[in-house]
Amino acid sequence: MHEFNFKDNELYCERIKVADIAKKVPTPFYLYSYKTLADHYKKLKVAFNSMRPLICFSVKSNSSLAVLKALVKNGAGLDIVSGGELYRAKLVGANPKKIVYAGVGKRPDEIADAIKFGILFFNVESEEELDQIQHIAESMKKKANVAIRINPDVIPKTHAYITTGKGETKFGLDFETVHKIFNNKWKYPNLNLNGVHIHIGSQILDAKPFENAIKKVLKFLKDCRIEVEYLNIGGGLGIMYSIEHAQTAKAFAERVLPMLAKSGLKIILEPGRFISGNSGVLVTKVIYNKRTPRKKFLIVDSGMSDLIRPSLYEAYHKIVPVKVASSASDTCEKTDVVGPICESGDFLGKERLLPHVESGELLAVMGAGAYGFTMSSNYNSRPRASEVMVVGDKFYVVRKHETYRDLVKGESIPKELR
Ligand code: LLP
Repeated sequence: MHEFNFKDNELYCERIKVADIAKKVPTPFYLYSYKTLADHYKKLKVAFNSMRPLICFSVKSNSSLAVLKALVKNGAGLDIVSGGELYRAKLVGANPKKIVYAGVGKRPDEIADAIKFGILFFNVESEEELDQIQHIAESMKKKANVAIRINPDVIPKTHAYITTGKGETKFGLDFETVHKIFNNKWKYPNLNLNGVHIHIGSQILDAKPFENAIKKVLKFLKDCRIEVEYLNIGGGLGIMYSIEHAQTAKAFAERVLPMLAKSGLKIILEPGRFISGNSGVLVTKVIYNKRTPRKKFLIVDSGMSDLIRPSLYEAYHKIVPVKVASSASDTCEKTDVVGPICESGDFLGKERLLPHVESGELLAVMGAGAYGFTMSSNYNSRPRASEVMVVGDKFYVVRKHETYRDLVKGESIPKELR
């Protein structure tokens, strides 16, 4: 459930008409619902309540300070993957003891900053990285907590680009190497190796792959007599973009909780999309209607530079007119909703049954709260969209639309060319 609903043929975010926001905020803009964010976080929390897990929101899915603050205020921890995300975590006052840090390429300076801040864990993805963290912690005369990311080699049945837990991906370590690391604990006097981590992929609709991965890891820990305090089961829970049947938090918990409870380990979850995905939409304006002998196009003021998921993964995002004319359903027509970027792959939706929408009218691209703004770019020198958050019957511009000046910030021309 989310808080973007139609009332009298008009799209609302919580208690505000999206069209009213667009009167004050130029398009395109991302629009987030505070209530949806908080509700989705709470759904997971309640579902897993018996184990009191630490739920670390995956910052890469939506790193807006307002979004992070909304979740941190509700008690969430954060899953980060860079120094930049650590910086954001600090800005929203996140508790360091609720921060976990993954990623295959952590730089020495990023590692040092995270140790200094006192994060809960590094999720370590290679032996060299482990050596590096040991070396840095030693030089800082500190002890760092480390969980080893295991690649459990399971098939999560999702898009190849968002599969991470298969043996051939760059993520995590195979069981044999992990065993060797735990046997050689003495090599890491400044590390506290007290967790294991898995993250098998994203937009996974079924509990089975999670069960398989958790089962494999628990068996491994038992067989090898490895004792740790934490098991981080990652993120990856899928959501409904279209007609898919996404599992609820409760259904997911019912499947995995029995195994987790038996393990006696402390549990960490790292959901991104489950919390942020349906908490946001992208609001865009139709610039032109265009008809060719073969196609009907709606050309809008937003495209792959704002939301790359359709172009990159052929991801489906529902697209709806923000105001629906009452006669609209009679006149629907197959339409490609495309952006202004000079690439054939620049589309938000293809062959969508849409009513006639005049130029100047608004569309909402649904389910754009995760991996929307965070994956946006300035391609074609297009300033990035603004971000707006609704809290009840109020809205706040939480990030201004970029200006042309922002586009060239930090650039210079060699003096010989001046
Ligand atoms: N933990 C780790 C270590 C991750 O790498 C990720 C996502 C998550 C948690 C959160 O996954 P989620 O719960 O959001 O599925 N750009 C792609 C998704 C890439 C996911 C990358 N890792 C997309 O737009 O679908």
